[in-house]
Amino acid sequence: MNLRKVQDADLNEKKVLVRVDFNVSLDESGNVKEEFKIAAAKETVEYILSQGGKVALVSHFGRPGGQAKEEFSLEQLVNDAERILGVKIKFVSDCLDENIARELEDLQDDEILLLENVRFYAEEESNNSEFSKKMATPFDVFVSEAFSVCHRDQSSVSGVAKVLPSFAGLWLQKEVKNLEKLRNNPEYPAVAIIGGAKIETKLPLIRKFEENYDHILVGGKIANEAIDQKIEFGEKVILPVDFAQDRFDIGSETIENFEKIISGARTIVWNGPMGKFEEKPYNTGTKKILQAIIESEAFSVMGGGESVQILEENGAMDKISFVSTGGGAMLDFLSSQSMPGLDVLND
Ligand code: 3PG
Repeated sequence: MNLRKVQDADLNEKKVLVRVDFNVSLDESGNVKEEFKIAAAKETVEYILSQGGKVALVSHFGRPGGQAKEEFSLEQLVNDAERILGVKIKFVSDCLDENIARELEDLQDDEILLLENVRFYAEEESNNSEFSKKMATPFDVFVSEAFSVCHRDQSSVSGVAKVLPSFAGLWLQKEVKNLEKLRNNPEYPAVAIIGGAKIETKLPLIRKFEENYDHILVGGKIANEAIDQKIEFGEKVILPVDFAQDRFDIGSETIENFEKIISGARTIVWNGPMGKFEEKPYNTGTKKILQAIIESEAFSVMGGGESVQILEENGAMDKISFVSTGGGAMLDFLSSQSMPGLDVLND
């Protein structure tokens, strides 16, 4: 993939719209839980400011269904985002506000704008071209830094990118480089570990890994679903031989089998927990598999909200070679499905 890079853009005195993914979960006190997703935009924001550009961030937050709803306002993220990004943020309560151009001109060197949730407009998800043009009007350049939403054909992802000169941000470039290596050019033995729920969404990925990986270890709810639905796999796909805790976790013999395979791997990609990890005692399989990956010498990649939660809970964010911000996006990328938000940046 030959993405146009933000390093090749002329940013001096340019007004730059940056698509980020601030679709994070909050704790009971309203504090951001997945700081990692916001931090992914930091390097690009700093880079654009260092090149003399003016920055406005645009994102979705939840699924408000095309209507303005307070509980989905990005304003509640401002304090956390300021701390994580290390800049001052001026919040604009409408992503189509007619004063955005002036607000951008008035920004100090260490200030950026954060625009209100773009999904407050139904036109965002229908990728309405007039809406894209309106959103693009105050800007000279578009930078995409939201890999985790690049599988969506939506206005702020692919629509605006067709209207403005558009480039991939620094984090987005890292995502594509690491995931391309995993998909096209893994070091062998290569092992994919697939868990979580909804076998129908994971099946294309399992089939894809059957083409060029040595082992595909299947756990979690999808293992139960695959067994119950009598889905047939080739010999590379390894299903649990036993379960624990009423099938809410993989069993000890399965853990041992999986650990052995993981210890010899040179590439490991993991998506989805091995059991109902959010509740004890169903988290044993997931924890043991994580430990085995950490102890292996493989190039290891994990992605998606649940994976980040597992890593954060176990203090292991920096023990994995690369953590992708993408959940659904990572699955689509690895199973070679079309990604409108990337295709539009590809020369
Ligand atoms: C995510 O959290 O996976 C992305 O932000 C995509 O969100 P969506 O599934 O609501 O499009």
